[in-house]
Amino acid sequence: MSADAMKITVVGTSLTATVGDALVVGVYVDSKTLRTPLRELDRALGGQLKEILDAEVFAGKPGQVTHFHTAGRVPAKRIVVVGLGRRAEATRETLRRAAAVGVRRARDLGARVVAVEILGDRPSARERAHAVVEGAVLGTYTFERYKREKSEKVVTELFLVEPNRASARDAREGARRGEVFGRATCFARDLVNAPSNDVHPTHLAEVATAIAEEAKLEVHVYDREECERMGMGAFLGVAAGSEQPPKFIHLAYKPARPRKKVTVIGKGITFDSGGLDLKTADGMLRMKDDMSGAAAVLGLMRALPALRPPVEVHGLIAATENMPSGSAIRPGDVLRAMNGTTIEVGNTDAEGRLTLADALCYAVERIKPDEMIDMATLTGACVIALGPLCSGLLTNDQRLAGRVLAAAEAAGERMWQLPLIEEYREGLKSEVADLNNVGPRGGGAITAGLFLKEFTSGRPWVHLDIAGPAFTEKDSALGSKGGTGVAVRTLLTYLTTDAR
Ligand code: BES
Ligand code: MN
Ligand code: ZN
Repeated sequence: MSADAMKITVVGTSLTATVGDALVVGVYVDSKTLRTPLRELDRALGGQLKEILDAEVFAGKPGQVTHFHTAGRVPAKRIVVVGLGRRAEATRETLRRAAAVGVRRARDLGARVVAVEILGDRPSARERAHAVVEGAVLGTYTFERYKREKSEKVVTELFLVEPNRASARDAREGARRGEVFGRATCFARDLVNAPSNDVHPTHLAEVATAIAEEAKLEVHVYDREECERMGMGAFLGVAAGSEQPPKFIHLAYKPARPRKKVTVIGKGITFDSGGLDLKTADGMLRMKDDMSGAAAVLGLMRALPALRPPVEVHGLIAATENMPSGSAIRPGDVLRAMNGTTIEVGNTDAEGRLTLADALCYAVERIKPDEMIDMATLTGACVIALGPLCSGLLTNDQRLAGRVLAAAEAAGERMWQLPLIEEYREGLKSEVADLNNVGPRGGGAITAGLFLKEFTSGRPWVHLDIAGPAFTEKDSALGSKGGTGVAVRTLLTYLTTDAR
């Protein structure tokens, strides 16, 4: 991960004294006069900055970027100018993207030491510093582990420039949080991008164990026999067809005086072939990403000790492949979940909800949390409903949902609530068992949510269907093709700012 190579420091120099291969600055569309630090920089540059702004091609719109060489007028070798849009409309997301675009431009120009001002003048220095550093980390992410030829263009050092003494401490704290959020997301991206032949359940268990050691978390990994003893028949049913042994992973972060107990659950299907209800070749091509929820759990659990929220957080992953074989579950089989509920397997490709059912049962029985949040690449139906840029949110507790949606908004991740329509529960009826694992085609994301709800025992719960945003086929401001690390930043925001 290239982001890990990037050393990040907050410096208190003026922009005119800042050193580096490039200095990234931001301008609003509608500010006729430059902000004070930029005015000073422009004077040192003999008006070069103002010249760019007066030229019509660069209006300062979000996403716009241009650069010029300073020819020794200031110590920074180049100035990269990014647009921040209209001042009144600029959000943290505007700053994140602007920083990402600016630092990426600097990198592509070959800059290794890059300075970036804490863009704009609102909101607070702390929030801007967070957004800028997070954007820089996310925007320069690359995944080259499996390539012989690695890119030579790498930013090795990032200076965040905050000339204002009064807000230096806030800037440092914001930058630190932004770095933690960004790196946690990239950690999840790496796990999603690595292929299923390396990222199998045993690997996820090893990663969890390594994280626990490094970050001083508690960890327990249950193997197949232990899961059997706990009665996890639904989870083990999915695992029945696979040569890779399943692992049930439980990580825990326990601060001294927690205000509440939250359980986060990640779908951990390390490859989803569909099972005997085999997917088409096209349909299974991307299915290494079916552990994106698990990757998010690992990324965020690893980050918690650095953020020290006063919340006890348990991370659960029921990790397995979903494979067809002579020992695989058959359509029509009946499985028994940990809470005794029997489930008819209407379709072996609806495996995620089977594994999540036992994870929810385990949480309810063994952890008894105040809140449960699961993240899962659960349904193609959710992608049809909301497209590739938005997660679906389903809940049995509207107040919890409101707080998670607010965290998503602050984190810059799109989430949209879908209703748990009670009448649709009928679609999950089985002739032989308590439940069927599939319902009718229409409203598939909702019936999947209704299925999960059966295993929550009425505890406050939010389900995030991340099937769309978990993986992207396009480069964007904050990421490149592949795993996105979606939900990590929303959950970290939620856990660190909402301790009710
Ligand atoms: N992992 C898939 C969901 C998925 C599909 C994610 C496409 C990303 C893109 C899940 O296990 C699955 O196969 N769901 C089925 C459920 C159906 C059989 C009820 C689906 O959505 O087709
Ligand atoms: Mn499936
Ligand atoms: Zn799946």
